[in-house]
Amino acid sequence: MADQQARTDGDRRPTEIPVVRWEEPPEGPVLVLLDQTRLPAEEVELVCTDAPALVEAICSLAVRGAPVLGIAGAYGVALAAARGFDVAEAARALEGARPTAVNLSVGVRRAEAAHAAALAKSGDPEAAAAAALVAARTLHREDAEASARMAAHGLALLDELVSGGGHRILTHCNTGSLVSGGEGTAFAVALQAHRAGRLRRLWVDETRPLLQGARLTAYEAARSGMAYTLLTDNAAGSLFAAGEVDAVLIGADRIAADGSVANKVGSYPLAVLARYHHVPFIVVAPVTTIDPDTPDGASIEVEQRPGFEVTEITAPQVPVTGAGGGIPVAPLGAQAYNPAFDVTPPELVTAIVTEGGAVSPVTAEALAELCARSRQV
Ligand code: MRU
Repeated sequence: MADQQARTDGDRRPTEIPVVRWEEPPEGPVLVLLDQTRLPAEEVELVCTDAPALVEAICSLAVRGAPVLGIAGAYGVALAAARGFDVAEAARALEGARPTAVNLSVGVRRAEAAHAAALAKSGDPEAAAAAALVAARTLHREDAEASARMAAHGLALLDELVSGGGHRILTHCNTGSLVSGGEGTAFAVALQAHRAGRLRRLWVDETRPLLQGARLTAYEAARSGMAYTLLTDNAAGSLFAAGEVDAVLIGADRIAADGSVANKVGSYPLAVLARYHHVPFIVVAPVTTIDPDTPDGASIEVEQRPGFEVTEITAPQVPVTGAGGGIPVAPLGAQAYNPAFDVTPPELVTAIVTEGGAVSPVTAEALAELCARSRQV
C-alpha cells in the first residue's frame, strides 16, 4: 500500500532531498519516496508499506533513474523481508517493474542474495531481513560515493577535452540527486563544473514525453544556482549549428558489454548531432550500469511505454481531462510510438566516465578491464 503525505520542508536544496528513505514507525517498516511525478509543482512523499506499492511507484516513475532504481529495489526486498512477505516473489516483481535499467535488478539481487545467505546461515528470518537492509543501505552509501568520484573524473575529462572559458554542456533527461544516493551522474559533473566556476551554461533538453528535463533537471539546476537554459528536444540541432555546445553529458540505463549505451529516448539523436559537429559525447554512469551479460545494443530490452504519454500532456500542473489523466494533444484514438529509451552505438560515444575512471575510446576490452578492476576494489 502507498499513502501520500505533504512535505513541510520544501525549501531544502536538491542535494539534501531524501529521494528514498527507510523508516521504522511503530506500525512497521516503510519505504518513503519523494514522488517525482509531482515535481516541480509540489514535494509529496509516497509511503510504501509493501513491494507491490513500490512496483507501482516504479512503473509510474514516482521513483526513477537507473542508480536510484537499484537502491529502491534493494530496499523493496528488505521491506518484503521485514514485513514477512515472500522475498523471492517480491524480488521478481520488483525486478520486472522496468526492464531497461540494469541497476534495478542489480540492487534487487544484491539484497536478495544477502537475505538468502543470512537465512541459510542462521535460519532466523529476522536476521535475514536485517541482512537485506544492510545490503540496501550499503548500496545506497556506495552510490553516493560513486557519484562523487564520477563528478571528479568527469570534470577532469571535460577540462581536458574542452578548451576555452567555461563549459557549455547539453544534457538530456534527469541525472541529478533525484536519481542517486549522491548528486547523480552526468548532472553531478555539471554541478562540479558550476562549483569550480567553470560552467558557462547548462543546456537542458525538455525530454518529451514525460519532461524529466523540464520538470526535474531544470528544478535541480535552478535550486543549485546554475546558469541553465531549457530547450525543446528538437531545438538541439540548431543549438549545435550555432556552435553553442562544448560537450554533451548524459547518464545511462544499461551499457552493453560492447559499449552500446541505452539511455532516455532522444540520446541517440544527440550523439549523431555531436559527431557531426565534432563535439564530445560523454556518458556518465556507475560501474553497476555496465552489464557484461548483455553483449550488444541489439540485446538491450527497450521499455515501451503507454501511448497516452505521447497523445496527452501529463505534467502535474495540468488539469486532468484525458483517458491517461492529462490534456489530449492528438486526435482521439491516435496511435503512438513511445519507447522510453534508445541505444547509442559505442562508436558515437567519446567516453564513458565511471567512479573507476574514464574509458576512451569505448571498446569491449576496455570496459571488461574496468569492470574487472572495480570488482577487485
Ligand atoms: O525513464 P526514466 O526517467 O527512469 O529515465 C531515466 C534516464 O534515462 C536517465 O538518463 C538514466 O537513468 C541515467 S540516470 C543516472
